[in-house]
Amino acid sequence: MLDELDVRPGHTALDLGCGPGTDFEALAAAVTATGTVLGIDHDQAIVEAARARTADQPVVDVRSGDVHDLTLPDHCADRARTDRVSQHVSDPRLALSEVHRVLRPGGRLVMGEPDWETPETPGAGRQRSTTSPAWTARRARSTVSSFSPTGAT
Ligand SMILES: C[S@@+](CC[C@H](N)C(=O)[O-])C[C@H]1O[C@@H](n2cnc3c(N)ncnc32)[C@H](O)[C@@H]1O
Repeated sequence: MLDELDVRPGHTALDLGCGPGTDFEALAAAVTATGTVLGIDHDQAIVEAARARTADQPVVDVRSGDVHDLTLPDHCADRARTDRVSQHVSDPRLALSEVHRVLRPGGRLVMGEPDWETPETPGAGRQRSTTSPAWTARRARSTVSSFSPTGAT
């Protein structure tokens, strides 16, 4: 997913439903000191844990918030990602429209979700998935292409 996100120096990258911020370090390295990584999650305890983990990374800002109602200006972000978040939100369409609002034209969104319907082995049922990150990212990109018809830059 990080490769697909193509974060560059100076970018503002949103990690929506960031949880503990597992990928903050990689995102911070990609935006460099001139960029910003903004993590948002609606679970205050997780936000505080993520803040504690990234206290030594000045480009990382972790905020409490809801993906249905992002308190961010229009077109403020170059990149956005959700990793295993959409399956939890009550109104994915509204959340997606908020992401569209805050992404700049030509910005990029990468979304990853497990494919619970595709068993890896017969009998594995909902426990396993064959969905690769690359496949998920491609699907997400094609979904979002309607949001950024000029392509990401
Ligand atoms: C499965 S965790 C994934 C966390 C993180 N993306 C990762 O890859 O480690 C889902 C996260 O989405 C957050 N979340 C769910 N619904 C949300 C919403 N409406 N607004 C903000 N965060 C939300 C949860 O609090 C949780 O931290």
